Amino acid sequence: RFVSATANEVLDSRSRPTLAVHLLTAEGRGFSAGVPSGASTGSREAVELRDGDDARYGGQGVLGAVRNVNEPIAELLTSRVFESLEDLDRAMIELDGTDDKSSLGANAIVGVSMAAARAFAAADGTPLWRFLGPADGEPRMPVPHFNVLNGGVHAANDLDFQEFMIAPLGAPSAAEAVRAGSEIYGHLKSLLRERGHEVGLGDEGGFAPEIADPADVLQLVADAIEGAGYTAGRDGVAIALDPASSEFEKDCVYRVAGRDRSSDEMIDYYAELVDRFPIWSIEDGLSERDRDGWRRLTERLGERVQLVGDDLFVTNPAIVRDAIADGIANAALIKVNQIGTVTETLETLAVCREGDYAAMVSHRSGESDDSFIADLAVASACGQIKSGAPARGERIAKYNRLVEIEALRARE
Ligand code: PGA
Ligand code: ZN
Repeated sequence: RFVSATANEVLDSRSRPTLAVHLLTAEGRGFSAGVPSGASTGSREAVELRDGDDARYGGQGVLGAVRNVNEPIAELLTSRVFESLEDLDRAMIELDGTDDKSSLGANAIVGVSMAAARAFAAADGTPLWRFLGPADGEPRMPVPHFNVLNGGVHAANDLDFQEFMIAPLGAPSAAEAVRAGSEIYGHLKSLLRERGHEVGLGDEGGFAPEIADPADVLQLVADAIEGAGYTAGRDGVAIALDPASSEFEKDCVYRVAGRDRSSDEMIDYYAELVDRFPIWSIEDGLSERDRDGWRRLTERLGERVQLVGDDLFVTNPAIVRDAIADGIANAALIKVNQIGTVTETLETLAVCREGDYAAMVSHRSGESDDSFIADLAVASACGQIKSGAPARGERIAKYNRLVEIEALRARE
């Protein structure tokens, strides 16, 4: 039983306002959550409520969403006993009453849902990294995907592709994967310096040098992997891309490094990159508006690499279900705030499992120090997580939590 729900307007990692949510139970226990926020958002994401008052934070304030937690949601939470997280999440969805959570705000609802998940897990005496998993499932440590080089809307450089990640697929443990991530990140910094590039950072903590051609970046990252003493490839450290192509596509024309390509030319381009570099996964390779292109991309490369839908799927169980029936992509990115409740996020993970689609749990480019997604990734046993670079507090909070969970499980 909850006795109070409160929220505050606090800053996220990009210095934009977000919510910190606190729940108090009748037993006097407190549970909190920090709400993430994206920059390259899909058009069908649940709606984040912003005040639009230009006199505060350039219109980005979240006092309205804070009020929605403190008043209507708090009233709901304290009005009766909720039997389960699902019971509570469904009640919030009903109270909101819209399809996209635009009335109460997905940022208000998701914060309460995440904090409540912690409360229900504690009431159950179950750690969160087990509580968030399917009843018949075994938790599994995910492979961290470290975003070591940033472009797109996450950096001020001319690089159109948003994320270049290193994935230590061959690491024997999460702790060793983190070590590989950190050592390669350090080596990449030295290589950039040696080759006369800036080593400033983008929003997710990866370097943001002035390199426009994705192939040049891939060569640099592959050099950093090998230079740090690792094998570049699936048995060692592979590369994952998130071009986030909805951001540089217009009318199904993609502009990369000053050159325009059709969907089919983009598919040829990816095939060439996959031939040349140890790429194992490509997220949002084509735009959310290019469904036909996605079908051809899946036919052409679906057997060779993981094709992840982010903007395309927005963690929506119904959208993912349709895509599976349609043979579009073969994996879904999982972001709790894209759909707005933990319950619906778990539903999307279940749809992926049943449809034999892979899933990757993900942070947002705007983050807090909340490590919720580390527990979610372990519980879901999906095997993959991305949380930015192996640097900066809000990114390492998740990776350090993974290492902690691994140690806790070893002692069980
Ligand atoms: P976002 O970026 O949080 O800005 O949407 C992450 C991603 O595109 O995967
Ligand atoms: Zn993405």
